[in-house]
Amino acid sequence: MARSRLRQIINPLGARAAAAFEAALRRIPAVQRRLEAQYAALLADIEPSLKPYRHEFPAYTRLPPVGRNRDDILAMMRQLAERETPRWRDGYVSGAVYHGDPDHLAFLNQAYALHSVSNPLHVDLWPSIARYEAEIVAMTATMLGGGPGVCGTVTSGGTESILLAMKTYRDWARERLGIRHPEVVAPVTAHAAFDKAAHYFGIRLVRIPVDDGFRADVAAARRALTRNTIALVGSAPSFPHGVIDPIADLAALAHDRRIGIHVDACLGGFVLPWAQRLGYPVPPFDFNVPGVTSISVDTHKYGYAPKGTSVILYRTEALRRFQYYVAADWPGGLYVSPTMAGSRPGALSAAAWAAMVSMGEQGYLEATRRILETAHRIRTGIEAIPELRILGDPLWVIAFTATRLDIYRILDRMAQRGWNLNGLHHPPAVHICVTLPHTAPGVADRFIADLRDSVAAVRREPRARGGMAPVYGMAASLPFRGVIGDLLRRYLDVVYKP
Ligand SMILES: Cc1ncc(COP(=O)(O)O)c(C=O)c1O
Repeated sequence: MARSRLRQIINPLGARAAAAFEAALRRIPAVQRRLEAQYAALLADIEPSLKPYRHEFPAYTRLPPVGRNRDDILAMMRQLAERETPRWRDGYVSGAVYHGDPDHLAFLNQAYALHSVSNPLHVDLWPSIARYEAEIVAMTATMLGGGPGVCGTVTSGGTESILLAMKTYRDWARERLGIRHPEVVAPVTAHAAFDKAAHYFGIRLVRIPVDDGFRADVAAARRALTRNTIALVGSAPSFPHGVIDPIADLAALAHDRRIGIHVDACLGGFVLPWAQRLGYPVPPFDFNVPGVTSISVDTHKYGYAPKGTSVILYRTEALRRFQYYVAADWPGGLYVSPTMAGSRPGALSAAAWAAMVSMGEQGYLEATRRILETAHRIRTGIEAIPELRILGDPLWVIAFTATRLDIYRILDRMAQRGWNLNGLHHPPAVHICVTLPHTAPGVADRFIADLRDSVAAVRREPRARGGMAPVYGMAASLPFRGVIGDLLRRYLDVVYKP
């Protein structure tokens, strides 16, 4: 059936009915066969780009009968790493690599190597790791206005910090408020990790709209509260548009209702305190705001630690205890663990601690200054391109859209010039998340020059084929949400093919 005809039938049904109709349609064997063929064709097109080394290096689908020579192994690994380094090192990537300086990386690798056998599950064997983790939490809490009582744990990343906060509120509300059907109210812009948490933990996530500046609509939040609401969520800043929700207003709502509010500062926790000190306009967002009960903040982003650590902070130890997992009757012994994993890489915590202590306040302040100055240049450059428009009032995660042109085709043109930017939707947009590699001389100017050229190319040829533009076009249309979900699941299947 033609796509536009299908849309004509489904769109008037409303979102829920349309989804049900689409799901029913997808279960029809003939439709299913046709879709599978189309998924396979689409994925066959992109598979070579996901598996660029397939024909160059031997693929191991079983163990080598005899172990390979270590020098050979390292030589191959070096080749792979060296191919992938220039793109982020030269500042072509949005987010992803936050520091990247070779000396900093070498230092973190040394710290990692010193503790590579450690596992904080065995505190008695490695008390050093417990010490690093306690100090990571304490330093992060102090940075974010935490007074006495503010506490937390180290986790594996922003997603785990968010998952744990949501589980904590669920268990707290069950015990303290008797809530059996928990709901969390979050702006549509809050990270997908909140959907994941809701899915994993049986929580209903109530998404509320944002205002013209892409900040949570406080009146909508108030209307969304019910007797089952266990917590509110705000971002500082949000991943898509880099703007800070009105945390003080949301926290006042939460405080009135005696429920929690989680501030997702995964992206901003290690930037905003320093931005504030540098005189940038930063609204209150941390534990200085009465009512804020938890904050997620990622050491592995602007904390400049290696990938694999984040911090979840709570206002009180009593709240944190709802995060812990205890098994008192297991024949394997008394078992208690603070986070989702059992065994954990203590070396990552050691390296995160080393990153924080080596940066110090001055290091973070200076890094933030460079990032915000570069972001300002980039923002000014985008504003000077008549076809583009900045969304909201961001500091260093700069989202923009196009008037009269397809922004995804501009994204594709930027990709052809080597740029790895983030595509956004609802509304269609693209963002660049500025990190330290962008602050090197010439990078911001190159970004703006390439953006100008990309816009001009799309103006000349607005319907060029290929790239991400058709995929985003399809994802934006109501009848194809389930199809996109199926496609993304098969995409992961391809990622796991050797
Ligand atoms: C605001 C925000 N929250 C949460 C996350 C999830 O963090 P992670 O990818 O470390 O799980 C991100 C990631 O970019 C983010 O920007």
